[in-house]
Amino acid sequence: MSEERIHTYTAPGIVVFFEPKLCTHVAECIQGLPQVFNTRDKPWVHPEQAGADPIAEVIERCPTSALRYERTDGAPQEAIPKRNTVSVCPKGPLFFRGDLILTDALGNEVRRETRLALCRCGATRNPPFCDGRHFWQTFSDQGRVPGQALRQRTGAMPGALTITPLHNGPIQLKGPFELIDAKGVVRYREDGALLCRCGGSNNKPFCDFTHQWNGFQAP
Ligand code: SF4
Ligand code: FES
Repeated sequence: MSEERIHTYTAPGIVVFFEPKLCTHVAECIQGLPQVFNTRDKPWVHPEQAGADPIAEVIERCPTSALRYERTDGAPQEAIPKRNTVSVCPKGPLFFRGDLILTDALGNEVRRETRLALCRCGATRNPPFCDGRHFWQTFSDQGRVPGQALRQRTGAMPGALTITPLHNGPIQLKGPFELIDAKGVVRYREDGALLCRCGGSNNKPFCDFTHQWNGFQAP
C-alpha cells in the first residue's frame, strides 16, 4: 500500500483508510452506507455511524482500493479472492480483483492489492489508474471481447496476477486470470495477455500495437 496522502478514520473495531488519488467517484460507498460516507461533510467518512461489519462489506465494493480497512476487533481482514478477474467496463476502465501485484515498467513491485481500476481509454492523468476521465472523453468501447479471442484454460489456476504497464504501451499480464466481458461472461481464461491502455486498439480489450503509431505516452 502506498503511504502517499492516505487519510485514516478510526472507530471501535475498524480503521478506514482513504487514498483520494485512486477514487473515481463511482459512489459504491455513498450508495452503500450514506450515513458513513457523506461527501457533503468534512471529514467525509464517519465510521462511528455504523458497525465494523457493514463498513467492511461496503468498502470491499470499492473497485479502486481508494477505500481499505483494517479490523481491530479480531475479525478477519479483507480476504484475497481465490480467482483473479479482469472485468471490461463498458466505456470505462478495467476492473481487477484478486491477488494483484502491480509493478512499474521495469518489473519493480509498487503495490499489492485485491482491487484495482486501471485506465484503458488513454486519457487518465494518473496512469496507470483510472481517474474517471473517460466520462468526459469520446471513449465508447462497449466492453465486448472479440470472438476470436475465446480461450478457456481448464482446471485450477492458483497464484498471483502480475500487472505491468509497459512504457508507452499496453498492460502486460502475467499469471492466471479470467477476462470478463461487459455482460459478465468469462470469455478468456489464461496465463497472460497484453491489454490495451491507449484506447486505440481495434481489437479491444487486447493490444493490437496501435500504440506504436498513435502517439500514446505513459510511464
Ligand atoms: S472509488 Fe471507492 S471511495 Fe471512490 S466513490 Fe467509488 S467506492 Fe467510494
Ligand atoms: S496499448 Fe492500445 S493498442 Fe497497444
